[in-house]
Amino acid sequence: MAEQAVANIGVVGLAVMGSNLARNLASREGNTVAVYNRSNSKIHALLEEHPEAGFVASETIEDFVASLQKPRTAIIMVKAGAGTDAVINQLAEHFEEGDIIVDGGNALFTDTIRRERELRDRGLNFVGAGISGGEEGALKGPSIMPGGSAQAYETLGPILASIAAVAEGEPCVTHVGTDGAGHFVKMIHNGIEYADMQLIAEAYDLLRRVGGHEPAAIADVFEAWNGGDLESYLIEITAEVLRQVDAKTGKPLVDVIVDEAGSKGTGVWTVQNALALGVPVGGIAEAVFARAVSSKPEQRKAVRATIESRPEIASVGEGFEDDVRAALYASKVVAYAQGFDAIIAGAKEYDWDIDKGAIAKIWRGGCIIRAQFLNRIVEAYEHNATITSLLEDPYFAKAVADGEAAWRRIVVTAAQSGIPVPGFAAALSYYDSLASERLPAALIQGQRDFFGAHTYRRIDGAGTFHILWSGDRTEIEADDTH
Ligand code: 6PG
Repeated sequence: MAEQAVANIGVVGLAVMGSNLARNLASREGNTVAVYNRSNSKIHALLEEHPEAGFVASETIEDFVASLQKPRTAIIMVKAGAGTDAVINQLAEHFEEGDIIVDGGNALFTDTIRRERELRDRGLNFVGAGISGGEEGALKGPSIMPGGSAQAYETLGPILASIAAVAEGEPCVTHVGTDGAGHFVKMIHNGIEYADMQLIAEAYDLLRRVGGHEPAAIADVFEAWNGGDLESYLIEITAEVLRQVDAKTGKPLVDVIVDEAGSKGTGVWTVQNALALGVPVGGIAEAVFARAVSSKPEQRKAVRATIESRPEIASVGEGFEDDVRAALYASKVVAYAQGFDAIIAGAKEYDWDIDKGAIAKIWRGGCIIRAQFLNRIVEAYEHNATITSLLEDPYFAKAVADGEAAWRRIVVTAAQSGIPVPGFAAALSYYDSLASERLPAALIQGQRDFFGAHTYRRIDGAGTFHILWSGDRTEIEADDTH
């Protein structure tokens, strides 16, 4: 076991993500990788299974630290939460000024902001880095979203670039912004991931229940879609999942899986934070809620038991599949538009200088939401970095307008047939809200003024007003502190 400073990078936490990332690092020229895990059996297993990696392994944190060259750089790959703090503290005790601790887990960005500040006060660099791509991504090339200081990125950037996925010739890593910016952007990535998955699931449900197709036939449809503007990792794996046959029963696998979607919480964080920032992310929120509804079997059963009849499935014509595809694409555009809005709002609130185009670029490869369509987002921000919404970009405006009629037909068909499409419907309502010249928010302002004297503004001039509702109902000018 090691004691000399021979490794340029270390990994702490050797569960699947950590060991895969360590193997990825070791496979790149110029890297010597130190590894450490609290339970030593994981270290031994890794060394035995991958002698080719030339890992420098340690059984104690002291030896691990001693095996790192300065500035010491260690990536922590442990479960987000209290465990992360424990490992950070252990490392920080032995690290010296200028050394770099990287948290590659799915940490909550506010924890990352706190940790970065605390470690900065001790002269250490702390980088919260979102890493997307699952186990395979960690091994073969993930998309990496590091925050932290620009100075730490000088050392860390080339190492991360060596292991990141490559899209259009560029490594899928960029310095997202200071302190928690990387984990914030990873959180939004996951929110978009939830929306994307929900929309695909709705498309499947419609093709199955309205279109009357079997999973294997729907797999063909998704495979065909994967050759067009919907080309993406999630569409690709959807086809694979739908094609899978259960060995035990001979049924499509999707038919034997319990229909209760799990989650580890990053989608909830996205929505909580978007709400706090006042950003409407209805498409993402509905995806989180849809998982929550699915996970309430007793409630679903109890309500179902009270229902005597369900609507008949609407009959559809030849163009149905194309309509579903168009609805999926338009709704997906909305989900990304909402996600980027949340990034813009987060950047403003937390004072991060985030390059939206660079984020779209590093999401083109390695990560779960990698998609052809991200090139269009890159172009949109290249064309005009100050657009207020992706829906304002000429390409996306046209894409949504081209699919609009189909999108409406699909939401109508779903409603008529009693098929839930919270993602498609929320995205369409959001689009219609932006598209409406007047919104009924005027009435809400009237109601607020009625019961709480909360005042309103007029369309024909400056000032803040209130109606004397319990008096003679004349309008008075009010101060705007209500
Ligand atoms: C990624 C994924 C990953 C996430 C899982 C589980 O980018 O590689 O987002 O970070 O942990 O997909 O997410 P849920 O359990 O919440 O679905």
